[in-house]
Amino acid sequence: MKSVKQVRSDFPILNDLIYLDSASTSLTPKQVVEAMNEYYFKYNANIGRGAYRIAIKSSNKVEESRKKIAKFINAKEEEIIFTKNTTEAINIVANGLSFKKGDNICISNMEHHSNLIPWLNLKQTGLEVNIIKANSEGIVEKEDIEDNINDKTKLVAITHISNSIGSIQDIGAIEKIVHENNSLFLVDGAQSLGHVKMDSKNVNADFMAFPGHKGLLGPVGTGFLYLKEDIANELKPTNLGGGTITNVNGEDFTLEKVPQKFEGGTQNISGIIGLGSAVDYINNIKISNIEKHCSCLTKNIWDKLSNIEGLILYGNKKNTHSIVSFNIDRINSYDVAKILDETGNICVRSGFHCAIPGVKHFNANSTVRASVHYYNNMSDIEKLVNSIEEIAKVFSS
Ligand code: ALA
Repeated sequence: MKSVKQVRSDFPILNDLIYLDSASTSLTPKQVVEAMNEYYFKYNANIGRGAYRIAIKSSNKVEESRKKIAKFINAKEEEIIFTKNTTEAINIVANGLSFKKGDNICISNMEHHSNLIPWLNLKQTGLEVNIIKANSEGIVEKEDIEDNINDKTKLVAITHISNSIGSIQDIGAIEKIVHENNSLFLVDGAQSLGHVKMDSKNVNADFMAFPGHKGLLGPVGTGFLYLKEDIANELKPTNLGGGTITNVNGEDFTLEKVPQKFEGGTQNISGIIGLGSAVDYINNIKISNIEKHCSCLTKNIWDKLSNIEGLILYGNKKNTHSIVSFNIDRINSYDVAKILDETGNICVRSGFHCAIPGVKHFNANSTVRASVHYYNNMSDIEKLVNSIEEIAKVFSS
């Protein structure tokens, strides 16, 4: 296992700053960048097309990455569809499912816009979208799912860990309710993969949407959709073209099988290869160590910030992972983030975090959000807390 200290030297950018915005995009270790460079320098060819050796090598490397990802979430290779991000993965589901007149879907008001807008967009086709309100800690209560789900509910789509405040939903309990109702279940795992164990058999969702560039420490522009084998035929591919068919005969065509029928056009080959290397990197640290370390850092930020006068924290310390969202009373979150950056080289996100209803749920117009990964240490947290203390003191005097 690699210690936090050893890991930090794989991220040269950490020499210059304190990075606390991994919920937005995490940093990329040297090993992943090198794997991508190797593709460009040594076997820069398209996949699934050429007969020459470097083309075969790049095709094999992409399939190797698929295998590593499948193993990482305990799924089959055919259940992994590469995308450019979580948003694309959710859109594949939203636009690929067939809805009947009168059908509805359920989501919560804690969703990232990526798990909200694709569904709201379908309202123009007659789909009803039920938005379930979370409780005061940002948790979607089981009872509220039960009250909102009915025989017309085709799908329930819920984020596992909220990107705006870090609250963790009980996806195990929700899955039971959803499947007992014969509805489909989608999990937005954008903030959980690479932070906590995600096992497709345990979660038992029909769809899971994941990014490569967050918890997994992979490159930006990568992600994937887990599509459960049993329901793969329920989904129509929407991005057709090269790579998605086995034959064209006159005006007819025959679709490839999954996952290729969903992967139209040239893929982000270097990114996918980098993603495979990122899975190796995470496995080297071990997901249980990442979970433990990030949990400890999260609780530490909570404890320390809650001692500062005028601090407003959102959610509940006991049910938050890797993300702490807060405000300093009467100070704009954007100003706080600017001051942290300019005076302490501390990077945090401010604003609505692409989750306007989720932030407004707490009667806030924006928050400051600190988010951690395995490469963060206690010294990062102390520096953040000292700076926040200083800002709160100066502005309250
Ligand atoms: N979804 C990313 C975030 O929460 C961009 O910051």
